[in-house]
Amino acid sequence: MPLSNVNKAIIVTLIATIAETIATQANFESEMLESEAILLNLRNEIIRAPKTLRPKTDGFWTNIYPNLNDDSLTNGFKSHFRITKTTFHRLLNTISNHPVYQSNPFKPQTPIEMQVAIVLQRFANPMSYRELETSFGISQGSVENFTKRFCIAVLKNLQYAIKWPTDQSMQEVVEGFAPPEFRNPIPNVIGAIDGSHIPIQRPQVEYHQRYINRKGCYSVVLMAIVDHMEKFTYVYTGQPGDSAFPLMPWLFVPFKERVTQRLTRPQRQYNKVHSSARMAVERAFGKLKGRWRILKNPMEVTDLTTMVDIIDVCCILHNLCIDCDDLWEDVNLISDANNEIIDVNLGAHVATLRNAEIKRNQIVRQLFDE
Ligand SMILES: *[C@@H]1O[C@H](CO)[C@@H](O)[C@H](O)[C@H]1NC(C)=O
Repeated sequence: MPLSNVNKAIIVTLIATIAETIATQANFESEMLESEAILLNLRNEIIRAPKTLRPKTDGFWTNIYPNLNDDSLTNGFKSHFRITKTTFHRLLNTISNHPVYQSNPFKPQTPIEMQVAIVLQRFANPMSYRELETSFGISQGSVENFTKRFCIAVLKNLQYAIKWPTDQSMQEVVEGFAPPEFRNPIPNVIGAIDGSHIPIQRPQVEYHQRYINRKGCYSVVLMAIVDHMEKFTYVYTGQPGDSAFPLMPWLFVPFKERVTQRLTRPQRQYNKVHSSARMAVERAFGKLKGRWRILKNPMEVTDLTTMVDIIDVCCILHNLCIDCDDLWEDVNLISDANNEIIDVNLGAHVATLRNAEIKRNQIVRQLFDE
């Protein structure tokens, strides 16, 4: 039943009142005194961005935030926080019971809703602590604490969001990678794997040189397997160096062109089909980094554990969004996601390699030989 305008007005007022109450309560804690300043600045930020948004009175939380919703394009909740309000509330419901959000009666915390909103802003925009502090007025300590709590709660309460397919869902993945409209899909694919560099600052470890990649910058590798829905089914974060994949009976890499040996036509056709299946993982990386831009530029964190936690949390949020049908369409495929195919032999047994070659050749023959 559609709400009458009177009812809508009442609801809007109610929400505004709740937000005001939150803001008033929050005045009692030191964290919030800083955040109040941020919010004013957040408001300025917002005025600068979409032209349509002009608050009538001061206060992001009291005047703007309650009116952000999921059906307005210019004034949308998602344009600020990268996820819909629906997803945001589902996220809050899932993590709010975690002990990190239990307030100490002598030093009450900033309301969880604001803490999480601020962390999402940080993940969404490449802002340094300095920028946060000078333009938003929030102290580094508070942002760090909000981020730390959020990571702990998400990694615990939402760890199930990244899971390897079970027997049942495995079948769906296999079918998803071989839809009827594909002419010659590689059979029985259960995931697409690749690594992507996440730029970082020089980590505070003795062996920091190990984290310098081929391009001469510090990075860690996010190694991931995705399903046909571009959802992560496995994530391993934090290794230095470049990723390389060997041919294995259960892991297919493309054929590599050599000077001495040109590829045959079926081999080239196979490479094309292979590459289109692998696009699932490249698109997932593109969307992940498009939504959470903190992963695109060296994040202002020098502690490796925290970096890895933030990357993992972003992957979990990526999956949560897909579960909530909260999709990210703006994909900017990042070239660094395409790791070079390097001939590697990670100590694989010669017989294993031989078996893998036989298996891949069989598939090429089945699919492409006239
Ligand atoms: C951050 O958390 C630590 C440890 O709980 C606390 O001592 C510190 O005061 C907090 N910082 C701010 C700015 O709230």
